Amino acid sequence: MSKSFNRKKSAKIKKKVKILFQSPKGMHDILPNNQPFFLKIRQVGEKIADIYSFSKIDTPILEQKAIFERAVGEATDIVQKQMFATKSRGDDQLVLRPEGTAPIMRAYLQHSLGHLSQPLKLFYEGPMFRYEQPQAGRFRQHYQIGFEIIGTNDPIYDAQIILLATNFLEELKIKKMNIQINSIGCNICRQKYKRRLLAYYENKQNELCADCRKRLSINPLRILDCKNQHCEIFKKDAPIILDNLCPSCKTHFRSVLEYLDEASLTYVLNFHLVRGLDYYNRTVFELFSDEFDFALGGGGRYDYLSQMLGGPKIPAVGVSFGIERLVEVMKIKNIEGITIKKPKVFLIQLGNQAKKKSIKILKELYNAGIKTTEALDKDSLRVQLKVADKNGANFALILGQREVLDDTIILRDMETGAQENIAIDKIIDEIKKRA
Ligand code: HAM
Repeated sequence: MSKSFNRKKSAKIKKKVKILFQSPKGMHDILPNNQPFFLKIRQVGEKIADIYSFSKIDTPILEQKAIFERAVGEATDIVQKQMFATKSRGDDQLVLRPEGTAPIMRAYLQHSLGHLSQPLKLFYEGPMFRYEQPQAGRFRQHYQIGFEIIGTNDPIYDAQIILLATNFLEELKIKKMNIQINSIGCNICRQKYKRRLLAYYENKQNELCADCRKRLSINPLRILDCKNQHCEIFKKDAPIILDNLCPSCKTHFRSVLEYLDEASLTYVLNFHLVRGLDYYNRTVFELFSDEFDFALGGGGRYDYLSQMLGGPKIPAVGVSFGIERLVEVMKIKNIEGITIKKPKVFLIQLGNQAKKKSIKILKELYNAGIKTTEALDKDSLRVQLKVADKNGANFALILGQREVLDDTIILRDMETGAQENIAIDKIIDEIKKRA
């Protein structure tokens, strides 16, 4: 059969295969070629967590809906429009978690983690779900890696979490970053500020976008991060929250900035940064890279979150990063993911007896920790050697009928093509010698 005939035939077969199912909209498979980036980010996250003494925590992907209604806020986009809700058979209202901080506080309260030495530093990694209109950098399922410091209101920890966030990006070789920071005050000074903001916008309502008109009654602070051109015009003369902080919020923010200066971190004061989750107070911040419009990470202080979930007052601060966005920037900047080691050995078997014996050899190679690959479903030497070459293995081990009878195996150096016949019980030592 000619090659061109085979090609035509396989093209026909490909055409005929109708794809019945696709991943849900805005949710992506992370295929093997993208895994090195994800692995690298997780590895760097674990390294940073270890150096700064954070312990790992995993929380369920499903949580009670009420957690996010209380913590993230009933009026926020996340709760109003973006939650994937489901019901358990017992009628529990559950949602796929849209973020990781509220579930961690829930776990902290549920397991009385306040009994451990404080502040408690926790880190996590996993999928989050938000029903968004999918676009570049915005998905319905995305992965986050995050760090939380729970049980302290000391501003030095706000600075430490920002320092850690910059270390994390630098360790990923994302060097040109931009830290934007603001303070949104406490429940007392923020209320006063909201009143001033409402007074400022009172006679401009009709010129605002529909979303901002709604925000005026539910969360006027969010008007400040509206990107609509018309709304932008009014922002520049709007009252600034930093001018309206109470003395203790002012002192807190000044201390955070002093600590950041002490750590030689450059930041930009962004008076319009308010963040889209209600649990924040005082310090809020976001991290950007020059090459990408979206924030790579964001966080802040959330001293009221515990109380919002029915607990005592437990101050805390944290940050999290979107892994897909980090991957995107790594690709733009030609930063590599982890290097996957090539196999050391490719095992070739010829004939039934050799195929049978190869399972035992594979077991021995595994026990010796030698990275091996093979094409056990192929028969021909030529085909198997071709795959070995493609896999980049250093050595091929060739087991034919004769070798099975002699208790030997052929060791072929894939670079030079030199071959040697070796006693089967010596092969592991021989490979190790050539490492
Ligand atoms: P967030 O800003 O909503 O904060 O999300 C954190 C990061 O997750 C964002 O900076 C972004 O990189 C990524 N991200 C968010 N939504 C999407 C999406 N739809 N598609 C792709 N990436 C996305 C939080 O979630 C807080 N829990 C952060 C925090 C931790 N605050 C205190 N501790």
